[in-house]
Amino acid sequence: MKSSQQSPLFSSFKLGPYTLNNRIIMAPLTRSRASDEQVPQPMMLTYYEQRASAGLIISEASQVSAQGAGYANTPGIYNDEQIIAWKQITDAVHDKGGRIFLQLWHVGRISKPELQPNNATPVAPSAIKPAGDYITPRALELEEINSIINDFRLAAENAKKAGFDGVEIHAANGYLLDQFLRDSTNHRGDSYGGSIANRARLTLEVTKAVVEVWGSDKVGIRLSPINPFNDISDSNPEALFTYVIEQLNPLNLAYLHMVEMAMTPPIDDSPVFDVASLKKLYQGVYMANGGYNKTTAIDVIENEPVELVSFGELYIANLDLPARFRNNAPLNPVDESTKYGGNEKGYIDYPALV
Ligand code: PHB
Repeated sequence: MKSSQQSPLFSSFKLGPYTLNNRIIMAPLTRSRASDEQVPQPMMLTYYEQRASAGLIISEASQVSAQGAGYANTPGIYNDEQIIAWKQITDAVHDKGGRIFLQLWHVGRISKPELQPNNATPVAPSAIKPAGDYITPRALELEEINSIINDFRLAAENAKKAGFDGVEIHAANGYLLDQFLRDSTNHRGDSYGGSIANRARLTLEVTKAVVEVWGSDKVGIRLSPINPFNDISDSNPEALFTYVIEQLNPLNLAYLHMVEMAMTPPIDDSPVFDVASLKKLYQGVYMANGGYNKTTAIDVIENEPVELVSFGELYIANLDLPARFRNNAPLNPVDESTKYGGNEKGYIDYPALV
């Protein structure tokens, strides 16, 4: 029997051109500490620098355009001020021997006029209101879809200027790309709606545009096939995501980042399926996410076609998670009240192991 310290979870991993120090990945986490202008603040530098022992950090979701914002104080990657602030963060992570990808995000209908330029109505594939405290979005015109793809391309270029090691495309959790994928939110009659191939078109075009900027081995993508978060569902998610993965396979991306859990209870009558089938279908590097701990992460890396495991919740309160796993050290509990927004408290003051 190998001791858990010798698990491949703790061994280095070749990800594209990079050698990660371990397979313990920091998942993207919205923490809402950017300025009101969506510029990263100095406390964000400390936060990411503190977590540089992760095999890879994936940044919090960062909007590719002002239109892409859905929450106050999430950072953007669409102007020079944001690029300059992010560059200081990536430099700090690199100085500590870490690697960091930026997550590229557009929230689509999960926004509000007060968060949009000129108080505009949020945009979506179709004018379908999400449940909860949202308004009915405006359906994007066909001509506008090209500008969305271009926003992702420009944001990918900006991420390069900001010194990131790569980017992750956020096609998960009920935000814009996921809204295009699913037939509950996409009722379009043009080439971006209807068939599975049409609904997947935007995600695949965005991915190809970003790959043109970065090269395929520095681009990851995140999907959440069984997550109803943000009031999203599909009549046949298994067929939809099987198609998406078959299309992603030949692109040879750096990794597929799979949210394997549901963040909210299921929507009535929506079909459920086992994401394990997708894990086998994907031919490249598979990053598992969703409620893993040390034991379950060691288990999937040893016994399943899983190369990397990402941890969100645990990384909020445990900046030195690889060391804690290695030493079987206790984990700090998360302070729920300081998760989103606020100041340094509950952000950069979690204690490290001594
Ligand atoms: C959130 O702010 O709650 C959030 C943001 C991005 C996600 C998921 C959740 O992908």
